[in-house]
Amino acid sequence: MFLTLKKIFVFDCLVIFYLTNNKLKSDYFEKFVARLEKTSISMLNYNKFFKLLTYGNSKEVYLSAGEVAKYWNDLGGKYDEKILQFIFYFPYCAQKCLYCRERSEKIKNCKEVVDFILDAEKEMEFFSSIFRNREIDYFTFNGGSPDVLSHNQLRLVLTSLFLKFKFKKDAVKRIEFNPTGVSSKKLEIVKEFGFNRISFGVQSLSKKALKNAGRPYAELETIKEIISLTRKMGLDDINIDLILGLPGESYAQFEDGLRELCELKPAQIMVYILNEPNRRYLSKYPSMSIETFQVSVEKMVSKFLKSTFLDELKEMNYVLVPDKDNLNYKYFALVRRDLSARAWLGAMDSYINISTFIVGKKNTSNIFSDLIYERVADFNTKDKIYKASIIDEEYEMKKFIFSSVESSRQLNVDLFRKVFGVSIEEKFNIAIKILREKKRIAAKKGVISFLGRNSRDIIIDLAFLISNMEKKSQK
Ligand SMILES: C[S@@+](CC[C@H](N)C(=O)[O-])C[C@H]1O[C@@H](n2cnc3c(N)ncnc32)[C@H](O)[C@@H]1O
Ligand code: SF4
Repeated sequence: MFLTLKKIFVFDCLVIFYLTNNKLKSDYFEKFVARLEKTSISMLNYNKFFKLLTYGNSKEVYLSAGEVAKYWNDLGGKYDEKILQFIFYFPYCAQKCLYCRERSEKIKNCKEVVDFILDAEKEMEFFSSIFRNREIDYFTFNGGSPDVLSHNQLRLVLTSLFLKFKFKKDAVKRIEFNPTGVSSKKLEIVKEFGFNRISFGVQSLSKKALKNAGRPYAELETIKEIISLTRKMGLDDINIDLILGLPGESYAQFEDGLRELCELKPAQIMVYILNEPNRRYLSKYPSMSIETFQVSVEKMVSKFLKSTFLDELKEMNYVLVPDKDNLNYKYFALVRRDLSARAWLGAMDSYINISTFIVGKKNTSNIFSDLIYERVADFNTKDKIYKASIIDEEYEMKKFIFSSVESSRQLNVDLFRKVFGVSIEEKFNIAIKILREKKRIAAKKGVISFLGRNSRDIIIDLAFLISNMEKKSQK
């Protein structure tokens, strides 16, 4: 009898709870690893796994806009550094790409866009008074596909938004477009509103791979023209998103594409490693199951790490972030050496106390160590329209650990202490000792490195660490 992935996952949960509720015994680690090794857990279901490991650190409630506003008034609670990120998330796309796990939707009609804008307007109006005395540090206009908006709609939304919210002088203001939806009029608006970073979702230069993924394709020539036009507008902080592992594109083709794009000298190329492809997508490739897909993607990553292309990168003035020894299976970036000081948000070293306010439905806002919430109904001030989780500090600690290790296989011990005011060794004393003894981690110069051979080993060690937090803070 075959178990479905869902059933296996539920079974995994029970195993973890069984193990974590037992006292640490000498063979505990071996039992923990042996059990998890037989199961489906891998970086592929990272999100569900994180939910499981933070079960107990959050409590679900429904809140009204006024109740959410009270949490924002006390932004970040006791924390000194209170970084505020504002995201305007436009949830519609011209089509739904088959690999996409975003909660975006294919647009059905113009009315949908108009309704969305009017609804977002009401939410922005309400919260603008809450942020009256608070300037925004990071602003992102993303989606979905913001380029689905006509230039008039884009101008309308931005005019209203920039009237309602204040931004720090040196705030990062970022916007994202699919190259097939860019026009010079839209780029002019981007310039007019002072955006200082623009991202193009190229994804691949392989026509076949994008066609199979149901995504419109932009020729290299078109991308060149767009980049040149963007530069003419005075915007040089350009990012290109690519995906490694799209079925239909070989490693050699991917590398050729990457080389061509480096020639265009964008400030950064962000390479995402294809994650959780759905069954409908993979069914186009009868020989490919989720498992064979994962093996093929990991092979591509090792080819990249062994490739002489890494030497070429230096000649082309790019650095790899994180570096070769700390690469993981989610994403990496090529950052132009002369601009690398402007590290991208989300990199390990830039993890600080960030709270994110997101306008619109279908996305999750968070108030550091206090609240995570998502709007589930049209905006109004009467009803409890936000589905929320009240979270604790331990939740944030686990998130810090998970996201750091996921992106770089490392934990910055000093940063953890800086953010939480307690040392990581104190919070995870016994688990760290055991993992060191078993040579699964190594600690050196303020950094704990995870030594697992692959993403599966690492997620098991992470699970072991996170599920063995000391119960009482020893601050
Ligand atoms: C938040 S998504 C939204 C991007 C934008 N809507 C677009 O299509 O250009 C940001 C990036 O994640 C990457 N991405 C999307 N789905 C992915 C998946 N299943 N696995 C890995 N990367 C993915 C793509 O490179 C994409 O540009
Ligand atoms: S355009 Fe972006 S958000 Fe929309 S479906 Fe494609 S990848 Fe997802």
